[in-house]
Amino acid sequence: MPKGGKREGAGRPSGTGRYAESARSIRVPHSLIGPVSEMLSEHLRSVSAGLRVSEKQVRTKAVSPIVVPPAGTASVIGPVDATSMLCALADQKIKAAVVVLDPMYRGKQEAGRAAYLSETVPLLEAAARVAPNIFLWGFPESVARLVDHWPTSLKLEAWLTWFFKNVPSRSKSWRPSQQACLHLRRRDGKLYPERFYSERHRALAKENKLEFKMTPYSVFEQPLLSGFIRKSEQTGFRMQKPEAVIEPLLRMTTQPGDLVIDPTCGSGTTGAVAIRLGCAAILSDRSGHALRVSRKRLALSR
Ligand SMILES: C[S@@+](CC[C@H](N)C(=O)[O-])C[C@H]1O[C@@H](n2cnc3c(N)ncnc32)[C@H](O)[C@@H]1O
Repeated sequence: MPKGGKREGAGRPSGTGRYAESARSIRVPHSLIGPVSEMLSEHLRSVSAGLRVSEKQVRTKAVSPIVVPPAGTASVIGPVDATSMLCALADQKIKAAVVVLDPMYRGKQEAGRAAYLSETVPLLEAAARVAPNIFLWGFPESVARLVDHWPTSLKLEAWLTWFFKNVPSRSKSWRPSQQACLHLRRRDGKLYPERFYSERHRALAKENKLEFKMTPYSVFEQPLLSGFIRKSEQTGFRMQKPEAVIEPLLRMTTQPGDLVIDPTCGSGTTGAVAIRLGCAAILSDRSGHALRVSRKRLALSR
């Protein structure tokens, strides 16, 4: 009998069982115990694979220590896998204010639920070693798989949605017009909502006269970069996000001078915004093409 005299599992809804996953346990309906155990074993296997990558990274770090660039500048590193990069940063005790993750996982085309979790949970675990605020972008149907599975050190601060109307579509069904972004936060993660206030609201807040907090909405309406829309911002990188959807994430979680990490940097949007906000940024990607586009955009040579 556990402490407090309560039988283990007592008080749970009927028809549910427990599946113990090392340090913590979760409750699932009896009918799901099989598939859930399989999924968790896969996740644990991949966590240990991630740790092996981390050891390898530790061996190479003496050769290539990661240097934090000065505020208002960015460095672009790679090609390197995102989890390995985050493990290397953590191993080198580099602390950032925020990690932005945009791996653009296409759940339908790849192996599905277990594969998404086994890749993404270790990625989040590694990110939580580096920064107290983490943003994870994805299609809502992919990101939804994470609900209740993100590392226990993180809590869901917000489910953000980017809404766009200008997607060209041949679909006979619903036209896709949204992407999701989970804001996950460690207990020590700082937020700066006052950065969104107007001068007037800031003055009122100072005098404690601001009745309603003027914090930003959790849905951003911004068009996709295509055709003539923000042509000067377009790099030609197919999955490039508008700076306007990354900017609120960094404004909410950084102050000028803070370090921002994006290990799936694509065309370098996070870096461009971080520089504009006076932050330092370390970007990386596993694709050589993405690294070339980012370096050109941020005018960096190797
Ligand atoms: C959607 S794009 C990122 C777009 C970026 N936010 C932008 O605005 O340009 C996804 C990027 O993640 C990279 N990527 C995906 N999985 C990765 C991984 N496991 N490790 C490193 N890079 C990864 C891809 O190579 C690709 O460049």
